[in-house]
Amino acid sequence: MLALRGDQLSPELVTEFGRRMWRASRWLSRMIGDLLDLAQIERGTLLLDMEPTDVEALVADVTAVGVRDERPIGTTADPGLPLVLADAGRLRQVLGNLLSNARKFSPPGSEIAVESRRAGDRVEISVRDRGRGISPAQLERIFRAFVQSDAASTREAGGLGTGLFLVKELCQRMGAEVRVESRPGEGSRFTVSLAVAAAVRAAG
Ligand SMILES: Nc1ncnc2c1ncn2[C@@H]1O[C@H](COP(=O)(O)OP(=O)(O)OP(=O)(O)O)[C@@H](O)[C@H]1O
Ligand SMILES: [Mg+2]
Repeated sequence: MLALRGDQLSPELVTEFGRRMWRASRWLSRMIGDLLDLAQIERGTLLLDMEPTDVEALVADVTAVGVRDERPIGTTADPGLPLVLADAGRLRQVLGNLLSNARKFSPPGSEIAVESRRAGDRVEISVRDRGRGISPAQLERIFRAFVQSDAASTREAGGLGTGLFLVKELCQRMGAEVRVESRPGEGSRFTVSLAVAAAVRAAG
């Protein structure tokens, strides 16, 4: 590729190289970040900055940045959602990982929905896709580190298989829960349940 002489590079080719380099550097930096997080989790040195967090604003943030590819993201939220207790940066990482999976494992054009709602003393955020879904056998394994289903589309999609392991570990440390419902061929819904900040203060 680099053997091409400068004067042979069309503007389109330069743009395409730029795009590929950008994608590769994003992938590398995420991979390095994931590996550092894994090391910190293993050593027990991961620090969290837990604070009252506005779910609706954070969801708007996470869905606005990143690649808005051909999969439109629809967001809905119950009115007047209370603040939750979370590390905002880590919650952004959790939702970013779930959204990245929703994009990766669903066809272009299919919709992704992020729904936030009140559930008693908790707020639940769901990321739902209409992609290929996950078989019951795989469902038990996907939250383990370095596990990917061996479908060809997963291998093509790349990644290390660390995303959902980090989602689970980060949620656990934030006092949040994560669960998944999925049917092969119909799509998946990942739900993160977080404690309302005022409820934690009252209990503590
Ligand atoms: N929304 C989804 N739809 C279908 N399959 C999924 C979905 N999310 C996760 N999976 C399955 O679970 C596996 C593990 O997901 P995980 O996010 O941990 O890894 P990955 O996305 O393959 O790689 P990485 O997140 O490290 O880039 C995936 O390889 C895929 O097989
Ligand atoms: Mg992933």
